[in-house]
Amino acid sequence: MKRNALLLGNGGRESAIAYKLNSERVLVHSYPSNPTLSKYCIKADIDSSNLFESMFEYIKSEDIQLVIVGSEAYLADGITDFLESRNIRVFGPSKKAARIESDKSYAKNLMKANNVPTASYDISESKEDCIEKSKKYSFPLVLKVSGLAAGKGAFVIKNKEEFDGAIKEIFDTKQFEKSNSKVVIEEFMNGEEASLFVITDGENILTLPPAQDFKRVYDNDMGLNTGGMGSYAPCGLLSKSLEEKTIDTIILPVLNALKRDKNPFKGVLFAGLMIDGNNVKVVEFNARFGDPEIQSIMSVIESSMYDIFMETAEGNLRAKEIETNGFSAVTVVVAANGYPGDYKKNIEISLDENKFDKNTLIFYAGAKEEDGKILSTGGRMLDVTSFDIGLEKAIDRVYSNLNKIQIEGSFYRKDIGKKGLKYAN
Ligand code: AMP
Ligand code: GLY
Repeated sequence: MKRNALLLGNGGRESAIAYKLNSERVLVHSYPSNPTLSKYCIKADIDSSNLFESMFEYIKSEDIQLVIVGSEAYLADGITDFLESRNIRVFGPSKKAARIESDKSYAKNLMKANNVPTASYDISESKEDCIEKSKKYSFPLVLKVSGLAAGKGAFVIKNKEEFDGAIKEIFDTKQFEKSNSKVVIEEFMNGEEASLFVITDGENILTLPPAQDFKRVYDNDMGLNTGGMGSYAPCGLLSKSLEEKTIDTIILPVLNALKRDKNPFKGVLFAGLMIDGNNVKVVEFNARFGDPEIQSIMSVIESSMYDIFMETAEGNLRAKEIETNGFSAVTVVVAANGYPGDYKKNIEISLDENKFDKNTLIFYAGAKEEDGKILSTGGRMLDVTSFDIGLEKAIDRVYSNLNKIQIEGSFYRKDIGKKGLKYAN
């Protein structure tokens, strides 16, 4: 049977999904493209000015069997609803179900109503309201814009000066214009974070190996929050028993509540978790795979992701357990100096991929090809993923490969994965 898929999104996340599907002999079409995607995929000729209709035309003309939505922006715009109403199979939730990510205040209220453990919170509707309601919280506290913000809309605030700065950034700059009509004020949770990805057709669930993301820009978790500077998987912090607890106290109550509300979730539910001893609480939910978590996860999965995506889209997810290859994988993000603040674009990042060993993968993220050169288009430019037997060897491998890269005007964290060694056997 034909295995023709259209993959939406052009980051490191989609690059890793394309790599995996390609290894399963799936013909992947991608929109929009990047240099890794053009290596593994056919570039889909879709007109961005008439996106949904043009996508539908392309799907028909190329006989695409399945659409995989990588990026949250398409979900929030309702791509799944649009295509499903035209009988196209889509891996990704409806616009309404994707609100669990695109509207944090909705997600917090949903958790509260269903006794799902998370930080206590208030929701403010204006700058003045936010300043007033924050008064009942002691430092550290957290402010989050409610709408989508590319991983940059959360502020962990330690003192009054940082609070004033965050209020200014949220309300007085144009940055969060589209996402700041509501702001969530949260109590600070102690602990260590892990990311759990649960694929569901609305009824059945399949859990992927847990991962850890390194969100802060500098080593030892210092500096600003980013979209993610590195990851590793599997992550021993989320032990089997904690994973089961997460499923029972967090994932199933949320999926059941959505089902009761006639708003079933179909796709991948990404739970960002805070783990403190035996306690697990939700930091946030997302309605798609994590970037850069999935780069590590895809490198350790043996099962056919195409079959899993297809079964999910058809509402008939049969797989009960994911098969893995037994490796540990570590991903390090190479970013432009200045990220997550202002940074330069059009940095030349062409690499000779023959220099890297066979257990190492390069996924371009914010990049384009021009006149035979690869140039940066975003702050997170490329990801280096290595896999090996055990986390320690995977860390050594990824950094020895990173030593072969010289990109002027770039940096990367030197401690990705190290926090996980205390849980590795
Ligand atoms: P979010 O956008 O909700 O994922 O938040 C981004 C990051 O901010 C998280 O990954 C945490 O590192 C941190 N963070 C968010 N909320 C809290 C909280 N309530 N307590 C502690 N850290 C948090
Ligand atoms: N790495 C976190 C995210 O994708 O939101």
